Amino acid sequence: MAFTVVWFIGLCSLLLGYGVHVEASHLVSLHLQSQQNTTATHQPYRTGYHFQPAKNWINDPNGPMIYKGIYHLFYQYNPYGAVWGNIVWAHATSTDLVNWVHYEPAIKPSIESDINGCWSGSTTILSGNKPAVLYTGIDPQNRQVQNLASPKNLSDPYLREWIKSTQNPVMTPIDGINASSFRDPTTAWKGPDGQWRVIIGSKIDRLGKAILYRSKDFIHWVRAHHPLHSSKNTGMWECPDFFPVSVKSTVGLDTSVNGPSVKHVLKVSLDDTKHEYYTIGTYDLKKDKYVPDNGSIDNGSGLRYDYGKFYASKTFFDSSKNRRILWGWINESDSVQDDVNKGWSGIQAIPRNIWLDKTGKQLVQWPIEEIEMLHEKPIDWHSTELKAGSLLEVSGVTASQADVDVSFNLSTLEKAESMDPSWANPQLLCSEKGASVKGSLGPFGLLVLASKGLEEQTAIFFRVFKAEKSYAVLMCSDQSRSSLGQDLDKTTYGAFLDVDPLHEGLSLRSLIDHSIVESFGGKGKACFTARVYPEVAINDKAHLYVFNNGSENVKLSKLSAWSMKKAQISY
Ligand code: FRU
Repeated sequence: MAFTVVWFIGLCSLLLGYGVHVEASHLVSLHLQSQQNTTATHQPYRTGYHFQPAKNWINDPNGPMIYKGIYHLFYQYNPYGAVWGNIVWAHATSTDLVNWVHYEPAIKPSIESDINGCWSGSTTILSGNKPAVLYTGIDPQNRQVQNLASPKNLSDPYLREWIKSTQNPVMTPIDGINASSFRDPTTAWKGPDGQWRVIIGSKIDRLGKAILYRSKDFIHWVRAHHPLHSSKNTGMWECPDFFPVSVKSTVGLDTSVNGPSVKHVLKVSLDDTKHEYYTIGTYDLKKDKYVPDNGSIDNGSGLRYDYGKFYASKTFFDSSKNRRILWGWINESDSVQDDVNKGWSGIQAIPRNIWLDKTGKQLVQWPIEEIEMLHEKPIDWHSTELKAGSLLEVSGVTASQADVDVSFNLSTLEKAESMDPSWANPQLLCSEKGASVKGSLGPFGLLVLASKGLEEQTAIFFRVFKAEKSYAVLMCSDQSRSSLGQDLDKTTYGAFLDVDPLHEGLSLRSLIDHSIVESFGGKGKACFTARVYPEVAINDKAHLYVFNNGSENVKLSKLSAWSMKKAQISY
């Protein structure tokens, strides 16, 4: 496979008409944008239970919501090819967030203020249970502007037709706003003064910011004098998300809720790094400003939703189950030519329930319970010693399409290697100390999508170190041997996990789906999504193992695994 990085690290700048300097953050392959390829028949990388359309390019999830008991997912879609371009809002609905039915695209270029593209945005449920969409349109001057759309017929729970406001655009890049860095409106929230508020991602030079607008009627929007928040040297903030979380329980909150038992989360997708970062903080209603807590870092060194491939995510409040659900886009790690050959690019991650950890310092994510309806052929292992150097095959599950949840117990950390204070970068540490590098307490974990001879394997594992005062738990997702194919992005991912390994143990759940591995460490405290393209370990040639490559024995206290049925996605 030829190597081309799908993403630009940095910006792809285009000079388009009317002297406006427009920057698009996606790799732009003009000649391929409208080229329909005969979709390849050999499709080992299509997933069984992840959301993806029949063909073509997808990116960000847009405007997720529940309306009259029906879940809606819109997403950025190119109807004409497997690369980014010709962007519309594709639309699918579901009653369980697992099985989906597609409709005609809900929003596509048709008016002056979106004629060059209908980019990302969000849904807000207005009073009277009326959904309203704010989205970024690209106008004839290639300026980014914000538009409003509403369902044509509220008695249709599938909301198949959408009407654009005659007042569009409802926000334009005036008064010093950069017309090429003004996009991705969030779900709006209502303040105590009854006014709606929304933020739009932006930047001025290297200062990333969330521009704040207010409105009484959702149509006329006035820009606040100050942003909701900004941070130096972070570049463009794409797809911001701003929502309350409860400090008392794991239930989700409606986006307008505030009060003494509430903290707020601001997430931004940094165009520069193509990763998402979030802070936890306080929404100061008097100043209409967000202030991250002390120690909650608001730049590219901060906390991430996912340490692998996961971008442009968006949450929504699911009022039917009082939970907040996170959708994220998993982009490809192969080349543009590979995408054109397979006829598609991009997948949506399994929706995740998201809440504030009891420490109040980070979020926790867990796959929505509904995917358990796809479980079949359960395997249960009880407590067993995972001896130094051991490799145990988990047989009896369809290893290419499975859900596996394993817990380890450590009885002592005495023999753990010492943590070198210079090992500050977990990703680098994971790349240097991959799954095959022997240690003391670890590496131990799972080898997934592995070929019989282990030439191909994706390893998700832990290493435990003694640190100055206590210990450090490193979690890694090592893709370096994920495929015999050359020229793929096989970057290894890593993060430190805030758990007490001695008293809490270490847990790891991985959702394996042919070319995707979504892993949740420490019961959802650190998440990693790997995008892999095995050439041998496909379908029934894929194997699943538990391994311990450390010199110390580890106790495997429990392992549950299931084959996963296929989700029904109709187009
Ligand atoms: C993020 C993004 C958004 C934009 C959309 C265009 O991936 O660049 O900022 O609205 O994609 O498709």
